[in-house]
Amino acid sequence: MSDIQKANVQASVELALASDDDIPEVVRLMNLAYRGSDGDSGEGWSTREKYLTGDRTTEKFLRDDLSASPHASLLIWRLEGQPGIAGSVWLEPQGDGNWYLGSLAVDSGRQNSGLGKKLLSLAEDWIRERGGRRINITVINVRETLIGWYWRRGYRDMGEREPFPYGDNRFGIPLRTDLCFVRLQKNID
Ligand SMILES: CC(C)(COP(=O)(O)OP(=O)(O)OC[C@H]1O[C@@H](n2cnc3c(N)ncnc32)[C@H](O)[C@@H]1OP(=O)(O)O)[C@@H](O)C(=O)NCCC(=O)NCCS
Repeated sequence: MSDIQKANVQASVELALASDDDIPEVVRLMNLAYRGSDGDSGEGWSTREKYLTGDRTTEKFLRDDLSASPHASLLIWRLEGQPGIAGSVWLEPQGDGNWYLGSLAVDSGRQNSGLGKKLLSLAEDWIRERGGRRINITVINVRETLIGWYWRRGYRDMGEREPFPYGDNRFGIPLRTDLCFVRLQKNID
């Protein structure tokens, strides 16, 4: 990591709740992060597996999800002195100390410089401060590099699988017939 990149990670500000005005930028960030390019190689390190196409979300879907989940928080992360949102994450209590962490995304042009690790750690702190003790994440089964990345951050495969919603193209259009969600869990107490 370069000195500038290291400085970027250090000069982060705290997570903040996304306002309605932030939604278009969050949607753009998520769509580019999940499907798009890092500006150099044409794809991000975590999205090389071609398993879905189409947008990850839309402003309408994200607003609908927020209305339907009154206890969830869509958080954004800015870096001091840098324009735009650097990352975003969805956090939602599930009861009994469990929290769901989803939609973790780092701006495609700023990936692979340590920001994802920092954002994940800030999200864990945010959950811990609210009494959370376990974090649940679901990752599509074919994303082995991403599952490895979470494993190095302490997330473990609990052996649970959830079906992929074939026929509902809200998350994108599947390019394979063998997709499912792997549930990863980490204890944070
Ligand atoms: C997943 C994501 C949030 C990580 O953020 P990031 O800023 O890119 O991640 P970091 O810079 O902190 O870490 C980069 C990691 O990629 C690894 N990496 C880089 N290039 C790689 C490659 N070609 N193959 C495998 N791993 C690679 C690095 O080794 C590093 O992992 P390590 O620190 O454990 O060694 C970000 O890439 C992203 O937004 N991806 C698209 C959205 C997504 O899939 N989100 C997760 C949904 S569950």
